[in-house]
Amino acid sequence: MIKQAIIPLAGLGTRLLPLTSVFPKELLPINGKPGIEYILDECIEADVKEIIFIISKKKELIKKYFYNDNFYLKIIKQKKDKRIINEYKKILKYRKKIKFIYQNIPLGTGDAVLKTSRLIKDKHFLLILPDDLIIKKNCSKEMIKIHSKFNSSVMASMNVKKKDVTRWGIFSLSKKINTSTHYINNVIEKPSIKEAPSNKAVIGRYILPKKIFSILRNQKAGRGGEIHITDAIQKLIENKEKFIAYSFTGKYLDCGTMNGYINSSKEISKL
Ligand code: G1P
Repeated sequence: MIKQAIIPLAGLGTRLLPLTSVFPKELLPINGKPGIEYILDECIEADVKEIIFIISKKKELIKKYFYNDNFYLKIIKQKKDKRIINEYKKILKYRKKIKFIYQNIPLGTGDAVLKTSRLIKDKHFLLILPDDLIIKKNCSKEMIKIHSKFNSSVMASMNVKKKDVTRWGIFSLSKKINTSTHYINNVIEKPSIKEAPSNKAVIGRYILPKKIFSILRNQKAGRGGEIHITDAIQKLIENKEKFIAYSFTGKYLDCGTMNGYINSSKEISKL
């Protein structure tokens, strides 16, 4: 069982400018609901008990969103509107599960994950990148099942076009377990088309071992001067940690780019 999830939220959201110049991208509405709530619902449905948000001073609006009690209470007192009461209750339900931690300098996903090291209790935890929505099937829940069955770390995987491999972490696979799961040989962050070992991309869902913290502590910056989680995972694989790539069956929505963000509302409205 996986009880804790980490969500890095300190990114600047430059791919969504101007929408993100004053507003955190994770609070932008997707079909009438802030993007982050889809991620929270996925975690809660997967029976995750604690969700650690890594924010920054520039993104304190995210915290405010979950701690705006005076505003809600005043309105509820005046209007007694059922919808607003339910929305407030939902926020309180989320809040019980969320812890906040800060990454004020954006040094990469690996660095964000490292900031949570003293909060992680069990041997494994879930990492979700909030730009990546997966609808129609709870990907985290499926990954937790795979983790329990094979006692292995797990990453979500999707086939991408060969020309797009430079945008993703890319796997090379080893032994096939079944149609949707393979063991992983290697993973490389944003390779050139020539370097790419396959067209299987890492999508933002990971079940990682606590051991990764000791690797991250000593890791030097990689591509683009950032500390990448992918590089730490590659090191773990070299140290004989078992990793499974899971080809998820849900539909992937890339909310981190403008086109993807616009499209995600359309897709969700069809559900
Ligand atoms: C990150 C990871 C990359 C992964 C991608 C999935 O990249 O570094 O390995 O494939 O998320 O969305 P980013 O989107 O932060 O550039």
